Amino acid sequence: MAARKWTTEQIPSQAGRTALVTGANSGIGYQAAMELARHGAHVLLGCRNGAKGGAALERLLRETPGASAEVVELDMASLASIRACARRLAERGMVLDLLINNAGVMALPTRELTPDGFERQFGTNHLGHFALTGLLMPQLLTSAAPRVVTVASLAHRNGKIEFDNLQSERRYKPWDAYGASKLANILFAKELDRRVRAAHGRLLSVAVHPGVSATNIIENGPGSNGLKAVVLKLVAPIIMQPDAAGALPTLYAATSPDARGGEYVGPDGFMEMKGWPVEVQPRANGLDTAVGARLWTVSEELTGVAYPALG
Ligand SMILES: NC(=O)c1ccc[n+]([C@@H]2O[C@H](COP(=O)([O-])OP(=O)(O)OC[C@H]3O[C@@H](n4cnc5c(N)ncnc54)[C@H](OP(=O)(O)O)[C@@H]3O)[C@@H](O)[C@H]2O)c1
Repeated sequence: MAARKWTTEQIPSQAGRTALVTGANSGIGYQAAMELARHGAHVLLGCRNGAKGGAALERLLRETPGASAEVVELDMASLASIRACARRLAERGMVLDLLINNAGVMALPTRELTPDGFERQFGTNHLGHFALTGLLMPQLLTSAAPRVVTVASLAHRNGKIEFDNLQSERRYKPWDAYGASKLANILFAKELDRRVRAAHGRLLSVAVHPGVSATNIIENGPGSNGLKAVVLKLVAPIIMQPDAAGALPTLYAATSPDARGGEYVGPDGFMEMKGWPVEVQPRANGLDTAVGARLWTVSEELTGVAYPALG
């Protein structure tokens, strides 16, 4: 369990560690990358847009003089891009100590497909990270203390994994697809932890959620469309915390010596919307081991990525 009022001041030195953060050019991902770099890690900013990645790197180096960071091209909606990124890191002989599965899109108004034919939210938020984690496993397993942090959401609570509608092919509802993808994040993190434990491995897999945080995710997703987005915008100034606070659960899971594999970490405040990172509990749907195991098998089939031995 996290200590009360865990802050970035409690981040131990990250010197000598290398971290990849997906979706690092904005919001929670940027803040997490910046703090890791501030504490001495070499940080790879995984970004799909070169110009945005470059601007984020410039900002990071300005805010954290002397930081060690670089941009890596990575489109989480494209298996080809994910494979190319993993291949480049392998060719560099990289030891990866930390992977933060953070990139995400939310409640896109209409059903969109990725180049691989996946519904964009499920494809980006879950399948892309499932594939990336598996492909980077050889680099992670060369670390003495590897960690994988997967960023889920309170929205998992309304999520359902419908195996006959995984790509929303039967019906598309923007928030249902988002909820399912974020539920998949929790099921994935917990299933990865179970598999590591069964293999007596040392990798820590932790799921987190940031509460409710002011980032670009509304504008890039629902915008002002739909009742939920309008309500979100209206109550945002009251319930939302800044992106730096939203990054605390991620940073706790990524760096605290107290973080445990299989844990789910979120803010301790009213309805987990804001506050300091502590262990929280997903709804029952996030604890369903049978669905977690089946989702793993289906994700392997859909992405063509088979995980190596995790021990
Ligand atoms: N903010 C909240 O209240 C909240 C609540 C619960 C969960 N979350 C989760 O927190 C995570 C971060 O979101 P955020 O709130 O920080 O929003 P954000 O500011 O919009 O950041 C999302 C990041 O993901 C990137 N991204 C989206 N699609 C991508 C793709 N195909 N390939 C690579 N990168 C991609 C975005 O890049 P571009 O700039 O190129 O679009 C951006 O860097 C998400 O997983 C989200 O579900 C957020």
